[in-house]
Amino acid sequence: MAALMHLLLLLFLPLSSSADSIGQFCDKSFKTREIQTSINKVLSDLVSEATISGFSTSSFGQGSNLVYGLAQCRGDVSSDDCATCIADAAKKLQAVCPMKADARVWYDYCFMRYDTSDFIGKADTGYAIIYFNVENATNPEKFDKEVGSLMSKVREQAVQQGSGGLGRGKSLFTPFITIYGLAQCTRDLEPLPCAQCLSSAVEKFPDYCQYRKGCQAMASTILHHLLLLLSLLIPLASSSNSSHSFGPLGHYCGKPTHSKKQITQVSDVLNDTITKALVSGFAVYLGGPYILAQCRGDVSPCDCQKCLLDAEQQIQSQCTNQPAEATIWYDYCLLRYSLTNFIGKVDTDYYLIFPNDDNATNPDDFDDVTSRLMDVVSSEASLAGSAGLGRGKIEFQPHIFIYGLGQCTEDLDIMPCHQCLSAAGQKFLEYCRFRKGCQVLFNSCMARYELYPFFFPLDPIDHDDNDIKVPMP
Ligand SMILES: *[C@@H]1O[C@H](CO)[C@@H](O)[C@H](O)[C@H]1NC(C)=O
Ligand SMILES: *[C@@H]1O[C@H](CO)[C@@H](O)[C@H](O)[C@H]1NC(C)=O
Ligand SMILES: *[C@@H]1O[C@H](CO)[C@@H](O)[C@H](O)[C@H]1NC(C)=O
Ligand SMILES: *[C@@H]1O[C@H](CO)[C@@H](O)[C@H](O)[C@H]1NC(C)=O
Repeated sequence: MAALMHLLLLLFLPLSSSADSIGQFCDKSFKTREIQTSINKVLSDLVSEATISGFSTSSFGQGSNLVYGLAQCRGDVSSDDCATCIADAAKKLQAVCPMKADARVWYDYCFMRYDTSDFIGKADTGYAIIYFNVENATNPEKFDKEVGSLMSKVREQAVQQGSGGLGRGKSLFTPFITIYGLAQCTRDLEPLPCAQCLSSAVEKFPDYCQYRKGCQAMASTILHHLLLLLSLLIPLASSSNSSHSFGPLGHYCGKPTHSKKQITQVSDVLNDTITKALVSGFAVYLGGPYILAQCRGDVSPCDCQKCLLDAEQQIQSQCTNQPAEATIWYDYCLLRYSLTNFIGKVDTDYYLIFPNDDNATNPDDFDDVTSRLMDVVSSEASLAGSAGLGRGKIEFQPHIFIYGLGQCTEDLDIMPCHQCLSAAGQKFLEYCRFRKGCQVLFNSCMARYELYPFFFPLDPIDHDDNDIKVPMP
């Protein structure tokens, strides 16, 4: 993810006219005339549709000439301003990115992009333009805190269903100074990638603050612009690999068995077990074969069902050697079977680990805070009545949160659940020191932490202090 990250740090020029573009990005040269034809068609589609509705996606062409496009106005600008902006954006792209297959332009009021790779619906924060002001506010700490709490309200609004990806708010800093905040995701994003995108945006605050000391304290008159630009741009600029919501994360197929009779039973019994789990999110079959199917406790019934049905198919197509035991792991669910009884027992023999490639800034502090968070999460998961689920977030630096989740299989009692999550904590120490994010999956539990929200509900709580908050279902 970091490899893709390019930040353009620009000094803020006060009150640039809204007609000027804020920045652009051009990449990937092409030579064929067919691609140009596709680009022209996509741009003209975008202009005619987005000027009416404020948002449009389009694609044109075939095979390697296929071009995707997206145009969007900020949710709060008038339709006239939107139309002007979209028209300007299309002209600008043609002028500044000739013969380029990936082009993006940012304006105060709108954004336009086309690309030969399909980016629609994926959070993309590979590129961001950050504007900042070098003047300092009086009382910078209070100011910073105020900005943090304003931005979290604004983010929360932006990820609500039906918000069109837009969040706005203001906060009275002193009787004379109001801070304005705005966040906008492109409308093709679902709430989860939108929330992840906005977290990446906020994560960049301290980066450029360290770069320019003055930024910790922007003059508030212009801060309005800072936040506005920052939040307008960032959503367009995370790597599509930051979340892997669908598709298996991995599988384990045990040794082949000679007990053909029992293996043929597996597929019959799988069907029954999955059918039950589709309703309640959890089901076991006891009776050799033994089966366990479970969704993560925070995912919606719809995502749970999709996941389990896919798991049922995949476990059979991945493990064709008729193994005596098999597990398939997803972000949202787990399916496991074995000819021997594993129900109620901790199993940490096989595991998958996904560490983030990037190291955290202040790695020692980060590890301390993360392990505190994961302790709380794992106690929560081991509580009676939690169905094995624990979630929480903790403030690491101002405005920057670490999100943690632990999930045991529901057949486990308090002690075995705790034992499994402790084993996950050990793996974090072994494989994930200093890493910005990491996920460990065992047969009996999983644990994960990230610098962005990855579980539900998305960022539901306001924060006024540094306490760990574990949202209750
Ligand atoms: C802002 O504050 C920093 C740190 O206190 C200081 O070094 C810098 O000179 C200040 N900038 C202005 C423009 O006052
Ligand atoms: C996502 O990950 C896959 C497999 O590791 C890789 O091939 C692909 O290029 C990655 N995509 C991006 C956008 O990083
Ligand atoms: C179980 O089998 C029936 C009949 O083959 C099929 O219609 C149904 O979709 C299956 N259910 C699951 C959960 O796979
Ligand atoms: C992250 O930290 C580890 C442990 O100090 C180090 O081995 C690794 O090279 C670092 N990775 C990056 C990308 O800096």
